[in-house]
Amino acid sequence: MERITLVQHLRRQEMKIQGASGEFTSLMNEILVASKIISAAVNKAGIGEDILGLTGKTNVQGEEVQKLDEYANKTFIKIIGQSGHVCAIASEEDPEPILIATQEGGGKYIFMMDPLDGSSNIDVNVSIGTIFSIYRKKSKGSMTLDEDLLQRGDQQVAAGYIIYGSSTMFVYTVGESVFGFTLDPELGEFFLSHDDMKIPETGDIYSANEGNRAHWSEGQKQVVEYFKESDDATRRPYKLRYIGSLVSDFHRTLLKGGIFMYPRDATSPDGKLRFSYEAAPLSFIVENAGGRASTGDQRILSLQPTQIHQRVPLYIGSKKDVKTAEDILKKYS
Ligand code: AHG
Ligand code: MN
Ligand code: MN
Repeated sequence: MERITLVQHLRRQEMKIQGASGEFTSLMNEILVASKIISAAVNKAGIGEDILGLTGKTNVQGEEVQKLDEYANKTFIKIIGQSGHVCAIASEEDPEPILIATQEGGGKYIFMMDPLDGSSNIDVNVSIGTIFSIYRKKSKGSMTLDEDLLQRGDQQVAAGYIIYGSSTMFVYTVGESVFGFTLDPELGEFFLSHDDMKIPETGDIYSANEGNRAHWSEGQKQVVEYFKESDDATRRPYKLRYIGSLVSDFHRTLLKGGIFMYPRDATSPDGKLRFSYEAAPLSFIVENAGGRASTGDQRILSLQPTQIHQRVPLYIGSKKDVKTAEDILKKYS
């Protein structure tokens, strides 16, 4: 594969976009810089700066905030906020979006992020990540309005994630294709390692937190029973893999196929994962890789959000496996 860096790749992509002003490329470069800073911190976590453990605070989600959550959040807000290309940043860690005044003609984009996904895995050395989603500001004038912050998933300009694992990878799409880059820590450059990623039509892995089974609907229980049944013709029983970091469970699904599910249940009627910076960006990626993503009965990218931190049930992965789950859920609904 040609040794091309993320910066070179972005410039080539930009040349394909009519009238591209270079602002998007410049914004993506800022994300790239922030991701290298977090990657260095994650890989050094525990050595030097005190960034492991809890801050003793809870966030708008009511979840305990890890020091690395806060560090990642501050780093992305500082770098993206100063880029001059973004008029608002919505983060999982902040109750309200951060509105940014920019020069005349600047601030064309809305940036939404889960600065550190998989926080419960930070202290146990399991892969974690950052998920981001970029929309174009729709309203005229200098104010950022709800119509800018609450856009349908299919209005995304770009989406991506960085996974801080055995290697640091940067995966993104601007539509049509999905590209994966691996960080060469010596050079401090991301090099193209996965060109035009496509998810297999079907897989042989299902991924769900079965610890929640007691709260699941009958339909959800039947979905998991289906994947557990023996049937050679459909490669069942599927393997169960559940890492507990959405980015890692999704990345494995994108590469190997299968299905990741975080369903609604009796205690969480809308599921756990958030539309703006978890479900929508990963759904934009999976559809551009030939996969499928729904709430179990509605396509994620067709949803019109009403709140920034709203939760949605998520079924995402190989087209056939997600469709199978939807058909079973429909039968029991
Ligand atoms: P975050 O760390 O950003 O709050 O996200 C955690 C999410 C997601 O990464 C993962 O899929 C899910 O929480 C795991 O939830 P359970 O521990 O309930 O299975
Ligand atoms: Mn998350
Ligand atoms: Mn998070």
